[in-house]
Amino acid sequence: MGRSADGRLLLLEAPLALFPGEIVEADVIWKTRHGEGRVTRWVTRDPRRTRAACPVAGNCGGCDLWEAGSHAPELKRLMVADLLHRQLGDGVAWSWHPAPESARRHRIQLHWDGTDLGYFRRHSHALVPVTACPAAADPLSEAIPRLHEALAGRALPTRPGRWELATGSPAQVVWATDERGRTWLLEPDGWHPNTEPICHRLCEASLCHEPGAFFQVSPPWAAEAFASLLRSWDLKGGTLFDLYGGVGLFSALLGDRFQQRVLVESGMAAVAWARRNLESAGLPSECLVADVAAWVPEGLGEPGDVILLDPPRAGLEPALCDRLATAGAGTLVLVGCDGAAFCRDVKRLSANWNLEQLAVLDLFPLTSHVECVALMRRRP
Ligand SMILES: C[S@@+](CC[C@H](N)C(=O)[O-])C[C@H]1O[C@@H](n2cnc3c(N)ncnc32)[C@H](O)[C@@H]1O
Repeated sequence: MGRSADGRLLLLEAPLALFPGEIVEADVIWKTRHGEGRVTRWVTRDPRRTRAACPVAGNCGGCDLWEAGSHAPELKRLMVADLLHRQLGDGVAWSWHPAPESARRHRIQLHWDGTDLGYFRRHSHALVPVTACPAAADPLSEAIPRLHEALAGRALPTRPGRWELATGSPAQVVWATDERGRTWLLEPDGWHPNTEPICHRLCEASLCHEPGAFFQVSPPWAAEAFASLLRSWDLKGGTLFDLYGGVGLFSALLGDRFQQRVLVESGMAAVAWARRNLESAGLPSECLVADVAAWVPEGLGEPGDVILLDPPRAGLEPALCDRLATAGAGTLVLVGCDGAAFCRDVKRLSANWNLEQLAVLDLFPLTSHVECVALMRRRP
């Protein structure tokens, strides 16, 4: 993001993240009040820029921080500081939680075009063939050529489309899921039809879900980061309202710190797994299939309760923010993986909820994406 000489806002997309102060050439389309474009060439390169350890860096649409090398966490922190400054203004304190070196993706989406298997180029359906992915856990990366071999050899359905490779925690077994939700398990002699869920052993919790369903991209690191953060905020109380609860990650991580839990999630299969996951953890819960915005009633909760919301990227609907203004719960935790939507919602909620803590977790290493978490308390 920058400004033209005449003060118009300029939004530039770069295949690899820019260091502040680098000079680039770009194709720009100017509109009345702003310009949009793509970086085409670096004129000057920051000395911290290094050779990417991934052969398709900048081509595949996945990671944009490869060339930042060991400076990636520092560059990302600068990006977050800039975002929070622009969206929330000066004087908002926040803590930064960089990813450990070991954090790798446990879920990747590949595309098969009938000949090649790879990732899509950013904002495009042009395929970038890959034979490995250094951002993924080793078993997943090693499964890419095995999937390609099976597709090319017609051992798996050959119709072009999307394939998801996923692994549990610890990362050992690999699942492949096609666009129709059919799954196969990788064994030494090839891919076998599967009916088993993917399971993760995370902190004290054990969580299973269907292959192809939503789960944290880097589960061991995400669970460790969330658990230590929420415990450092001393979250506990009567009822935990785990809204957009998925298969019960937050309910399980917070465990017996709450007397009871109400989990609301729109996915039927996810709710069925949440029930099983929480029951087997000895955490009896009410798990409901519902649209959160429709379900949240006026005056939700008591002062000792916590409302935790982890919506999809688009964030909270305005009507839901209005309903939360009337809540009886004393504490609200907002989790968001889109920084701009998250800041917009924090501002919407601020009339009735005081922002007490703000943390940014690097749950998506090698990319510019982050997870933001806010602790808000009911204003008197
Ligand atoms: C970012 S995920 C969070 C899941 C869970 N908290 C976790 O960390 O594993 C958002 C979840 O919200 C669910 N969801 C999306 N829209 C919803 C809605 N309108 N009402 C309820 N759940 C919804 C999705 O199915 C998904 O499981």
